Formats: sequence, C-alpha cells, structure tokens
Amino acid sequence: MFCLSVSFREGFELSGDHDPIKVDWQGPPGVLPQLTRSGWLRSIHWLSEVDSTNRHAKLLAEDRRQALPALVVAKTQTGGRGRRGRSWFSDSGTLTFSILLAIPESEIPRDRWPQLALVSGLAVCDVVAEIVDPAEVRLKWPNDVYIDGGKVAGVLIETAGRDNDRVVIGIGLNVATDLSQAPAEVQQRARSIRDFVDMPIDRFTVLPEIIDRIAERIEQWKIEPAAIATAFSQVCLLTGRELTIDTAGQQVAGRCDGIDSDGQLKLHTADGIRLTIRSGEVVSWNVGAEGCDG
Ligand code: BTN
Repeated sequence: MFCLSVSFREGFELSGDHDPIKVDWQGPPGVLPQLTRSGWLRSIHWLSEVDSTNRHAKLLAEDRRQALPALVVAKTQTGGRGRRGRSWFSDSGTLTFSILLAIPESEIPRDRWPQLALVSGLAVCDVVAEIVDPAEVRLKWPNDVYIDGGKVAGVLIETAGRDNDRVVIGIGLNVATDLSQAPAEVQQRARSIRDFVDMPIDRFTVLPEIIDRIAERIEQWKIEPAAIATAFSQVCLLTGRELTIDTAGQQVAGRCDGIDSDGQLKLHTADGIRLTIRSGEVVSWNVGAEGCDG
C-alpha cells in the first residue's frame, strides 16, 4: 500500500511499506503500482524524449544523492546506443530503459561486474519466454535475446560515476516494434514480440516484470553465482554450434562448448585448443545446416 507524501518539482514521492521512492512516471497509470511493488527501485525518471537512456543514466550517476537503483525510461529514444558503437533502432512500440545501480565492491568484486551482462540478459529472456510461450527464446552470449533466429532484445552495460563505481544496465526490447519501418539490416535480423502473440501488447506493461526479474537475478548472482551460469546454459543459443568470435581485435573460430561457471564462453578450436573467452562479439554461427551472421 503506497501513499503520496511529498510533492517536488518533477514528480512526487511514494511511501508505504518501504522508504519513499522518488517518482516521475507519465506512462500508463496502472503500471506504476507494479513498478514500485517490490520496493527495489528507489527512483523512477520518465523522459518524453531523450537521445539515449544510458547516457541520461550516466549523467544521473554524477549526482551522489541519487536514490538508487534508479530507473530511466523513455517514451521516445532518438539515439539509442548499442554494443561496440552500434546504434539501436526503436519506434513507439519499443521499450527502451536503463537502470542505474550501485554495486558495493565488498559485495561483488569489480572483476565480476561484466557478469551483469549475462544476469540482465537472463532476466529479460525469462520474461520474454513467458510472454511468447511456446516459441523458443534463447540467449546469444553474452546477452542478446533471440526468438526464432532473430534478436528481440539487446543489453548495453556501462560503468558510470566519478569513480566508475556505478553500473548502467541499458535494455532495448522490441515489444510492439513495427520492423517494417526499420532499416533493411534490422528487418532481416530483428524480431518483435508482437509477432509471436495473439493479442495487442503494450510495451510499458512488460516493464514491471522485467524489473522484478532483474532484481531477483541480481540477488541470485550475489548469493549463488554458479546458478546464473546454470540457468544461462539452459537457454544458450550457441552451445554445440560452430562460430566465429571477434575478441580483442582477433577472429577466432571453433565449436562452442557452452559457458563456464564465471560466464565465460568456452570454445574448442579445430586444432583441438580449448579456450575460454571473457569478452567478445560472436560475429557468425551455424544454425543447423545454415549459417547466421550476428
Ligand atoms: C546491443 O544489442 O547492441 C545493445 C542495445 C542496447 C539498447 C538499449 S535501448 C535503452 C538503452 N539506451 C541506450 O542508448 N542503449 C540501451
């Protein structure tokens, strides 16, 4: 049960069973109680139009008084950023948001923070799978969510704050994206949830479930990190496939043997060498008898 307690310029504060949450929300009213139900989010920032929610979240990170975790959600995102300097296409059916988090190094050492990519991808995958069931949803390492051979969501993790002690999780999810209006390359590689469900689907109604799932998966990651790798393995798109990965400027080819308990990709090259890859971009992989470019 929440009640309105304090007014301030851009929004209001909700208080109830938890400490007050700073809220500026202009999305569907019914979604707000769901967003705040777990008490995990400490502030919500609605943006009618922004170039990039990740960039905005990084600006918020400069202010040490920000109540975290903070959700930054855009009605319109005009310059979405993707991994490796790519751009992210979105329209009025795409859910685009970022979460700004503080992760005390005492809880999770910094060298484990890159695993947050898998943790977040897994949370989005969980929710998408429930919505499009029985369609098959898979994760392309480290965090691209795939339905039916096409990408439906991408995650961009960035560090932020003066001491790089904050993390931004940026997520773009094609909920009701009209891909016929997208650039040809996006049309070819992307999928939209709306094409796998019978009923109209509103992008913002999906958000609370994703927020809850991210909070749960982060908690699991802190307590039982190996469980993340186990869950990821169950939905890994690449296990058993021949692939080429771009890592540290080098292309390496081999068969994917899944991921290890730290979330690193295991590769078995044609020369019989077994590698574990910490970061990189899978640029192509085989799908049955066919090939696929990432
Ligand atoms: C990728 O697959 O390359 C990652 C795409 C991440 C896109 C999201 S949309 C919301 C957030 N803001 C950004 O500018 N990028 C992320």
